[in-house]
Amino acid sequence: MSDHSDKPKFPSTMSTGAPAVSDRFSLSVGADGPIVLSDVHFLEQMAHFNREKTIERQPHAKGSGAFGTFETTEDVSRFTKAALFQKGAQTEMLARFSTVAGEQGSPDTWRDVRGFSLKFYTSEGNYDLVGNNTPIFFVRDPMKFPHFIRSQKRLPDSGLRDNHMQWDFWTLNPESAHQVTYLLGPRGLPRTWRHMNGYGSHTYMWVNEDGDRFWVKYHFHTNQGMKFFTDEEASLMSGRDADFHRRDLFDAIAKGDFPSWEMSVQVMPYEDAKTYRINPFDLTKVWPHADYPLIKVGRMTLNRNPENFHAQIEQAAFSPGNTVPGIGLSPDKMLQGRAFAYNDAQRNRIGANFHQLPVNRPKVPVNTYMFGGPMEYLHTGSAPVYAPNSANRPWSDEQGRVDNGWQADGDMVRSAYTLRPGDDDFSQPGTMVREVFSEAEREALVNTVAGSLSGGVREPVLSRAFDYWKSIDAGIGARIEEKVRAGAAPQPAEGMGEG
Ligand code: HEM
Repeated sequence: MSDHSDKPKFPSTMSTGAPAVSDRFSLSVGADGPIVLSDVHFLEQMAHFNREKTIERQPHAKGSGAFGTFETTEDVSRFTKAALFQKGAQTEMLARFSTVAGEQGSPDTWRDVRGFSLKFYTSEGNYDLVGNNTPIFFVRDPMKFPHFIRSQKRLPDSGLRDNHMQWDFWTLNPESAHQVTYLLGPRGLPRTWRHMNGYGSHTYMWVNEDGDRFWVKYHFHTNQGMKFFTDEEASLMSGRDADFHRRDLFDAIAKGDFPSWEMSVQVMPYEDAKTYRINPFDLTKVWPHADYPLIKVGRMTLNRNPENFHAQIEQAAFSPGNTVPGIGLSPDKMLQGRAFAYNDAQRNRIGANFHQLPVNRPKVPVNTYMFGGPMEYLHTGSAPVYAPNSANRPWSDEQGRVDNGWQADGDMVRSAYTLRPGDDDFSQPGTMVREVFSEAEREALVNTVAGSLSGGVREPVLSRAFDYWKSIDAGIGARIEEKVRAGAAPQPAEGMGEG
């Protein structure tokens, strides 16, 4: 790149100028194995992405939240030894809800995925579950995440949002079809945060006292009932009250109308994962409930508003990597990428000692071997700063197989996950359109998609978008194409780009 107006005419490089090797696949041990720390290009992409903005959370900038309690009402000790999930346990918690692509001041009611972040201040340390209001996601390799987010944000020249760019990314990455169908369908525009469900989305691990391992997916079903906006209602509301969702939650709690959600899990025995017909770690897929039914765990209730939005909501730091004994991550490469990204973003956004702020501090004592840094508040006096030491400052020394891990082996490769029989990108969204949506909801979907595609999407992206929808469902694809070609689409939905 010789000057700012030059478009590079060669494949991407790292900041050193050396080849970037791949912008699509991270380096992993075998196609399904863990990604490795020696993937310097991947680390550079992740770390630099986290520093693209200052102060504002990148992504999920606009949001709000409240404190509450999680109560475990059922006995699930056969699946996990985690203290917070033992029957009768009550755990203080914080929830933060958000939109993904908009900035701090953007309207709450633009069509977008909603963040559903939970922090449990448990008796074994803080446990975070950083999910969304949808059970799936747009991509399945974390290498793609910064590219995905940029494509949904703003153009480099005009600073405008752009439908063309959004659809270019989605159609070049067909694994997005399930999430895009969900987002543009009837559940894509929640009426309030109180009226939406939440999902952990990834597959996580649970481990019981005997060391038995299980794969789990989390579901939070709203007790307020699910309610949604139409495109027209949401457009009106974004003009009338850009903070509608933030206000709704704050007002409800202020008047004692405390929202609550029932938490359930789908549980897959450890061994099943090896042969299940769908890759159970692919974040673009759900596990059909007929195969793995919901098992109830407990209830979360939000009952206390923040006293200071900045201190308690903006400076709150959630990370899917923050687990407690009895809970683990999984071979989902997205989840492994996230386990690095969040705390790194927070060191940049809040500061190296972000974990010392009251909202982020655990309720249990800590004994970390991390020292100094800006704004250090909690410290260990003159205690030794190294381990092992002869001054009786305790340190940790577990060795051998970890109880919340799994087996992995293979060559280091850049590769998509190994495909299983049920692993195509279009079956699950196709089933959703045909068997879950009503005819009225299908018609609304056609209008929403056609509206978005009519908002400045050009060839060759436009034809690719018709093919994408025809792959999901031939009839729906044809209806979308007909509407767009006839110029009969409604105005593009708010937040879907300026065109
Ligand atoms: C590799 C993929 C991903 C990466 C690298 C990534 C990275 C990030 C980063 C850096 C933040 C800002 C954190 C902060 O400043 O405190 C963030 C926020 C967030 N992300 Fe992700 N993300 C990924 C995928 C996902 C997925 C799959 C979900 C949901 C299932 C998700 C849900 C959220 C939520 C809810 C927030 C807002 C957290 C809050 O309320 O503070 N992200 N993400």
